[in-house]
This record gives sequence, structure tokens and C-alpha cells, in this order.
Amino acid sequence: FIVGGLLILAAYLLGSIPTGYAVGRYLKGIDIREHGSGSTGATNVLRTVGKPAALVVLAIDLLKGAIALAVVNLVYSLAPSGFLPPDWHPWLITAAALSAIIGHSKSIWLNFTGGKSVATTLGILLVMNPLVALGTVMTFAVTLGISRIVSLSSICGAIAVNVLIVALNQPPAYSVFAVLAGLYVILRHKTNIQRLVAGIEPKIGQAL
Ligand code: G3P
Repeated sequence: FIVGGLLILAAYLLGSIPTGYAVGRYLKGIDIREHGSGSTGATNVLRTVGKPAALVVLAIDLLKGAIALAVVNLVYSLAPSGFLPPDWHPWLITAAALSAIIGHSKSIWLNFTGGKSVATTLGILLVMNPLVALGTVMTFAVTLGISRIVSLSSICGAIAVNVLIVALNQPPAYSVFAVLAGLYVILRHKTNIQRLVAGIEPKIGQAL
């Protein structure tokens, strides 16, 4: 229990690393939360700081999710047999994943504000099941190619994760992850959804 708790806490702290905020602060001297969509994610960094900065933020935010899960896997592989029950593994992965996602959007360093957890979720999926990650990226890319709207693509990706987890026969714990993470990511896009409905959601890179 203690090890599990520590892993979940570590995942939250990893997710909390305020990449987008730091880039805005140090490259442009701004608080990114006061610009564009107010999100600290790569999409808003692209909008307010620029492309190279956005790519760096995307990569690091993705890594935060991937590393949080890799740490769980590492601890499992190093622990003496019987110390961590094998059937806990998918549940611990799910708990650490949700914790990293919450950390990214409710960062302890940013007064519990942050991004919309899309990149961090993708990093998680890469470790959880690369095929699910691939299918999600393809859904995202096709939607983005057609609509040019990142938020819409993220929402479609969040739905696709659920379909893929079921289609690829993943453990029940991962279905729980897909439902909760999918709902959470969609809820984080509340203002985007309002703009989408009103037909005023900006396309990728456009100002807001
Ligand atoms: O990954 C976040 C994206 O889906 C939307 O970001 O800044 O347009 O609200 P933003």
C-alpha cells in the first residue's frame, strides 16, 4: 500500500511539472494562463509563444505521462516476487495514470491550474498499450487534418481511446482508465465545446 501510494504521488508530481508555464515565463516573460485559451498545454504555447516552444512542451508533457507509468513498471520488475501482487499491476498503472493527468491540469506549482492533459494522456497510452496510442494519434491526426481544430481532435481522440481499449481486449482496469480519463479530458474542454457549438473555435495556431 505504501509503495502504491508513493507511486501515485510520484505520478502526480511528475504530471505537475509546469512545462508550458515555464516556457511562457522564460521565453516570453508572460503568464501563459492569461493569454489565449489560458491553458498551459502545447496548443496554447503554439498560439502564444511559437512552434519550437510548442514542440518542446508537447514532448516533455508526453514524457511526463510515459515516465510516470514506466516508473510503476520498473518498480514492479525490481520488487521481490510476492511483494507487489501481479493482479494489482493494471490497477496501479491506472491509478498512477489518472494521478499524472490530474497533476498536469491541476499542478501543485500553479495553484492547481494547468493544461487539458491531452499530451500527458498520449504519453500514458504509449506505455499502457502502443497500439491504442497509435489508433488514438491516427484519430487525432485525421480529425485535425479535416477540421484544423486541435480541441475537436483531442475530444475525438478521447472517445477513440475507449473504443480501442475495448476493441483490443485490454484489462478491465484500462477500461476504467479510458472512461475516466476520456471524461476528464472532455470536461477540461468545456469552454472549447462552447466555442465549437458557437462556431468560433480557432483553428490550429490561430489567435484566440
Ligand atoms: O490539448 C489541448 C487542446 O485540445 C486545446 O487547447 O489551448 O485550444 O484550449 P486550447
